[in-house]
Formats: sequence, structure tokens, C-alpha cells
Amino acid sequence: MRLDKFLAEAGLGSRSEVKVLLKKGKVTVAGLVIKDGRFQVDKNSTEVAFEGEPLIYQEYYYYLLNKPQGVVSATKDNLDSTVVDLLAAEDFRSDIFPVGRLDKNTEGLLILTNDGALGHDLTQPKKHVEKEYFAHIDGEVTAEIVQKFADGLTLKNGEKVKPGEVFVEKTMESKTQSGMMSEIRIIIHEGKFHQVKRMFEAVGMYVLYLKRIRMGNLQLDADLSLGQYRTLTENEIESLKK
Ligand code: URA
Repeated sequence: MRLDKFLAEAGLGSRSEVKVLLKKGKVTVAGLVIKDGRFQVDKNSTEVAFEGEPLIYQEYYYYLLNKPQGVVSATKDNLDSTVVDLLAAEDFRSDIFPVGRLDKNTEGLLILTNDGALGHDLTQPKKHVEKEYFAHIDGEVTAEIVQKFADGLTLKNGEKVKPGEVFVEKTMESKTQSGMMSEIRIIIHEGKFHQVKRMFEAVGMYVLYLKRIRMGNLQLDADLSLGQYRTLTENEIESLKK
């Protein structure tokens, strides 16, 4: 492959940034300074170095982020910081994007990657990738309400959604508007805008707190604190691709 592509994929910068670095003579191949981006190197070469440091070619990056509240699921925003801003400089690449969206005030599992095909597959409505959330709901989520979710709800705007499974974990007195609060888990099979909040709105209830805990086979790690992320394992990547 071309040296400039290798360097860009190794995270050195865009093709034009790489060109500048090459011109400055910062890149060596087998110890020789190479300034021409068209120079051919092997993908698995261990001989390419930047300022003397060996570079490793990696085309795709996959991270599992525990998204905190207050950051938006986008790559750029004029007002707020974004989920990709949470990546350390050495993990950041300009083509990394979040797979799907969590609301600004939603926490939890979000995949960041530059693998466009995987991102597209996981968010395609036809694929019905399961998503599981933990939530605090203002009020008591009764068996009747659970059944309504199981039957498939019609949202306030008339849109029908696929059945969702709700599991009530705890109901307790609280200082919320209704005086009660329920801790629930919900599994949905689509990814409509504000879907969980709008499903509860359809039964007259309000979501106080929302956290995604699973997407497909991928679970949120309990030891990943808010704002932290880690690289996905090979097995996890394979299982997401299935
Ligand atoms: N449903 C919502 O309402 N918000 C999210 O962020 C995710 C699912």
C-alpha cells in the first residue's frame, strides 16, 4: 500500500497532514527517510517509523464508551462537547463516529468506531439489534403498563412501535411529582428518536434517568466509569458483526 495511506491509517493525521510530515523528513522506512507518499510499503510492515517511533497500521478502531450526561452523540457541535472529545489524543481519529445516538442526558453504552459498514449495520432498522436500558420512572410501573409495552405502543404522534419488554426491579416512595418511583429495565428492538422516553410518555409517565446497558450481545462494563472507554475485544467485534 501507499506510504501516505499507511501513515493516515496509523493515526498520524489526514492525507494532507501526512504529506507535510513526509516533506519534513519525519518518516523513515527501514531507517531511510522517505518523503514521497506514493512509496509502497507492506500493510504489516514494522519498519515504518515517525520521529524514530515504529508505527502500526490499523484501519478500524472500536471503542466501548460509558457516555456521561452533558455530552452529545455527534462528532461536532457548536455548543456542547461531543462523545469523540472524550477520546484521548492517541485514540482519536477524525473519522471516528458514535454508532447511533443517546440523548444528551442519557448515560451508558455507546460504540465509537470508524468502521462505517458496522455502524450502518447496527443502526439499520431492519436488523432489529436489541437495546437494553435501565431507567428511573416517575410513578408506579404496573403490570398493566408492562403489558401495554408488550402489546406494542402507539406513540403520541401516532407512530406505532414494536413490542418492548419491561422488567420492574423496584418501586419505592420518592420525592418525585407522583410520590413514587420505579426502577426498571426495558428491551427495545428499534432505535427511534427518544424512543424510550416517548414510549413512557405514551402511557402518561416520565423518564427521570436513562442509561443504556446493552446493545446486541455487548454489555456495558460495570467497571467502566462515566466518561471512560476501552477498546473492544476481537470477540466482541466479531459478535457485533454477526
Ligand atoms: N431512548 C431515549 O429516549 N433516549 C435515548 O437516549 C435512548 C433511547
